[in-house]
Amino acid sequence: MKIAVMGCGTVGSGVVDIIDNKSDLMIRSANENIEVKYILDIRDFSDSPLASRIVKDIDVILNDDEIETVVETMGGVEPAFTFCKKCLEKGKNVVTSNKALVAAKAEELFDAARNNNAAFMFEAAVCGGIPVIRTLFSALSANNILSFAGILNGTTNFILTKMINEKMSFDTALKIAQDKGYAEKDPTADVEGLDAGRKTCILASIAYGHHVYPEEIHTEGIKAITLEDAAYAASKGYKIKLLGKADKRNDGKIGAIVCPFFVNETSMISGVNGVYNAISVKGDSVGDVLLYGQGAGKEATASAVVGDVMECARLKKNEKHYYWDKHEDGIIEDYMLYETALYIRGYAKNAKNSIINIREAFGGVSVLSREDAPENEIAFITSKATEKELRETLSELKDFAPASIIRIL
Ligand code: HSE
Repeated sequence: MKIAVMGCGTVGSGVVDIIDNKSDLMIRSANENIEVKYILDIRDFSDSPLASRIVKDIDVILNDDEIETVVETMGGVEPAFTFCKKCLEKGKNVVTSNKALVAAKAEELFDAARNNNAAFMFEAAVCGGIPVIRTLFSALSANNILSFAGILNGTTNFILTKMINEKMSFDTALKIAQDKGYAEKDPTADVEGLDAGRKTCILASIAYGHHVYPEEIHTEGIKAITLEDAAYAASKGYKIKLLGKADKRNDGKIGAIVCPFFVNETSMISGVNGVYNAISVKGDSVGDVLLYGQGAGKEATASAVVGDVMECARLKKNEKHYYWDKHEDGIIEDYMLYETALYIRGYAKNAKNSIINIREAFGGVSVLSREDAPENEIAFITSKATEKELRETLSELKDFAPASIIRIL
């Protein structure tokens, strides 16, 4: 399948990298060779290895019948909307990472897709590499979604984490997030909560079956949050997190809000740091489901885009089955060859002497202690080696009988 990529910035270039370098995986998993034929970008790429594929005119893509799927990673509503709509009207599938586009224009793009028997996919538009869109549309589709709440913006979570854990200033943390390619072109969309707002609307639209527009939901960002607030939060066992949340109210309406929350330090979501995102979804049949992963960044977001492209290839082939190749002898690695450290607890005739022997045999261990341990009990953690080597060393120890061995992850 030949494709075109519109917009060769952080995410678009990541998409080209993956498709150019993982053709084996495309064939194995989608049963189709996928090739980037054109890259649409108005910037100068004359010195780049991509130069031969760069085009400046959308009509080149629209008028080439070989192009079956178009990736849109330009960002912003226009001209992305016009380009995507034209591609769909030509019967080309569209895959986008553009949450502004989906939040504002999905209704019209769905119509264009349906009327022209094309696919419109946007897994990368919410939470970068986390497969939340397909999970809601497909895996959890037997559920009424009672509520969801999540850290939906990597840049603000990165900034809050740096401010709270490292006492870094807001501006320094934002600069790092921009350098790492997490932030939007205009980072106001991140820090004022607009990006999280768009993602909340997309998720709410899927969950509740009606388009929810960003203008309709209350949105606050993190600009007013200070280290003083973080300190007061910590004094009561909370962390501050920017969340997007929604639920179905008793009167049938959709409740949705984006703002900083005090989150209990014992909750799973409070441990989600840096560029990571997490979404907790409550379905009426499944109960609680938690999704976690990198919410921004070139590779993580491109991974979601390419996953959609591969899904388009599977649709084309009308692939209805999950499959894998037959078993191959010798394909499983012997676990004894894995590198690991081991926790070992056991009993010795003379604990003091045994500890000297253990240290010598393993070349240094960390000896553990606990209250009320019997005198002949020894527990320690080895340094890393293959399990085979560690077990051989252990079996050569005299006067020590192991009772418990647990691998350190
Ligand atoms: N600026 C966005 C974020 C990029 O930081 O989450 C991914 O949507």
